[in-house]
Amino acid sequence: MTYKKLFKETQETLNKYNFSNNYTDILFEDIFNLNKKDYFLNQEKEVNKKQQQKLQRIIKKIIKTEIPLSYLTHQAYFYKLKLYVNKNVLIPRFETEEVVDMALKIIKEKQYNTVLDLGTGSGCIALAIKKEIVKLDVFASDISEKCLYVARKNAYNHDLKINFCQSDLLKKFIKQKKKFDIIISNPPYISDNYSLDKSVLFEPFLALFAGTDGLDIYKRIFADLKLVMNKNGTAIFEIGFDQANSILQLLKDYNLKGIIEKDINNNDRILIVTDLS
Ligand SMILES: C[S@@+](CC[C@H](N)C(=O)[O-])C[C@H]1O[C@@H](n2cnc3c(N)ncnc32)[C@H](O)[C@@H]1O
Repeated sequence: MTYKKLFKETQETLNKYNFSNNYTDILFEDIFNLNKKDYFLNQEKEVNKKQQQKLQRIIKKIIKTEIPLSYLTHQAYFYKLKLYVNKNVLIPRFETEEVVDMALKIIKEKQYNTVLDLGTGSGCIALAIKKEIVKLDVFASDISEKCLYVARKNAYNHDLKINFCQSDLLKKFIKQKKKFDIIISNPPYISDNYSLDKSVLFEPFLALFAGTDGLDIYKRIFADLKLVMNKNGTAIFEIGFDQANSILQLLKDYNLKGIIEKDINNNDRILIVTDLS
């Protein structure tokens, strides 16, 4: 069997079960070490039998369980970075890259120096920011040591110096009297009652759910925000597409000022909180 034939067969099988062609690209890169360019150069070559069987086993598992591909290949891409992921961390999302874009714009405009990625998971936000602006002093925290293990591994793999810290939201920083110019966070914001796609249920609940209205974590962060911000600081959050009104109301309750920006799909997605001193 040639790579070309196997590629076509794989696409057809996965398409039948509504998995995009992207899955085949990633599987070929992971199992055969063939990125798009290498695939085209090698497509007429014969596939190694053992590797072909491995591919078939993985395809079966994807179809049977709907487990996200990233948890099988242990790879995810975020902001041009190839990241290691496992079942303990959220698979980084495209929407979050837009939060990073916005944060970078603000960091440059306001000439900020100290950054906190709150609830870092795989480390994706912290790493993307540090990679773009190396001179920044970047901190990243999570309540989960298992997430911090993954985030540290990614920082090491990309040779990026990040200050990692285990903390229940802002508690440790308040205790240490540590302050930041900008806090960036994609916190858990899904309502406990929301019914999610089966594939999302493979991801850690700690990363997803935040009480009956999905606002529990925002409430805790807003309550403490001013204690950890430098003068003229900004906090920027990813929010659920249907949360804009409730979040704006919540800001008022905590005496904070903010605006909401839309994402590329015209969904309310990014909350920017200013006037934090
Ligand atoms: C939605 S995930 C985001 C992960 C990553 N920043 C991303 O964008 O892919 C939320 C993260 O917040 C962490 N988290 C949940 N509760 C927390 C808490 N009380 N304190 C700190 N981190 C928390 C979870 O472990 C998870 O890694």
